[in-house]
Amino acid sequence: MSSTTTAGLRQPIEPFFVGQVPAVKTALNLVARIAATRATVLITGETGTGKDVIARLLHARSDRADRPFFAVNCGALADSLIESELFGHARGAFTGANAQRAGKFAAAHGGTLFFDEVTSMSPHTQSALLRVLQSGEYCPIGSEQTMVCDVRVIAAANRELRELVSAGSFRADLFYRLNIVRIHLPPLRERREDLAMLIDHFLRVFADRYDRGAMQLDPVSRRQLHDYDYPGNVRELETIIHRATLLADGPVVSVEGLLDPASAPAAACAPSAPLGSFHRDKARMVEKFERDYLVAAMRRSRGVVTEAAKAAGLSERNFHLKLRKYGLGRHTLLTDCSPG
Ligand SMILES: Nc1ncnc2c1ncn2[C@@H]1O[C@H](COP(=O)(O)OP(=O)(O)O)[C@@H](O)[C@H]1O
Ligand SMILES: [Mg+2]
Repeated sequence: MSSTTTAGLRQPIEPFFVGQVPAVKTALNLVARIAATRATVLITGETGTGKDVIARLLHARSDRADRPFFAVNCGALADSLIESELFGHARGAFTGANAQRAGKFAAAHGGTLFFDEVTSMSPHTQSALLRVLQSGEYCPIGSEQTMVCDVRVIAAANRELRELVSAGSFRADLFYRLNIVRIHLPPLRERREDLAMLIDHFLRVFADRYDRGAMQLDPVSRRQLHDYDYPGNVRELETIIHRATLLADGPVVSVEGLLDPASAPAAACAPSAPLGSFHRDKARMVEKFERDYLVAAMRRSRGVVTEAAKAAGLSERNFHLKLRKYGLGRHTLLTDCSPG
């Protein structure tokens, strides 16, 4: 069954969360205060902001650290299999159940279950999870035996869960059960003060991994990395530095050609060489700016034009006209630009 990822039974090495801005300090303070409790935690933040790292940190700093940690990807769970996946089944419980099978709750007994991407959890799965959170007990399918659930539950969401609750696609009662402690991780573009630390951290990580000795970034690359927008957040930065270290000939690393131009607003500010007429160059620059801006705005709003137009301070009609002018459709934008 491919619906879950296993993080291994023991977590001897504590994950390291790099960052110092106030929002990160708040998050790490919360981790320190609640890691040892059994409280359910909801971690929110865009993709790549470090939700997995925080979940593992909570586990590693709890008295459950030597017990299992399992991550369950809620989007990947098929409805028909979910209960057996989570709670297990008795032999003969249904066609094809040739042997008894333990579910994730049993496998993680005494440890932590991490429900990733809860926003994509089906209504059926939401009910199943709510039941076990409320009663603290569950029955494997086809079994009479009630099992006591001793699992700490951590959930992660990359969208505003509260909005899904208001829209009726996420159960309010489950939301309140999960949202006992909430840890929010800001997108990387809102914590640029941490960039230098993160860049140096990843340079060290990959230099070590590939036995490259000390590596450093050339100054132009450093400036480009500071101006970049990071739609894929820390994960994207990590991948960029990973590639750059692999491609470097010597100890100096360059990110030349590794950044997505649509997310590098600074690139639009340099006059194109060789110089043409002022007006033609200016028009070209404005066009490039407009196109890049539209792509970034649409990407940030995940393709919702109303939202993108509002954030841009343009009327929806004007925004539509501009999209059409550059041949940008919702579909091309979302497939073009999905972060690495
Ligand atoms: N603050 C951080 N310090 C160090 N590495 C980080 C940090 N945040 C994210 N990462 C790294 O970035 C990648 C993506 O993080 P992850 O926790 O999987 O993000 P998410 O679950 O929010 O999508 C991982 O390889 C992780 O190790
Ligand atoms: Mg994740």
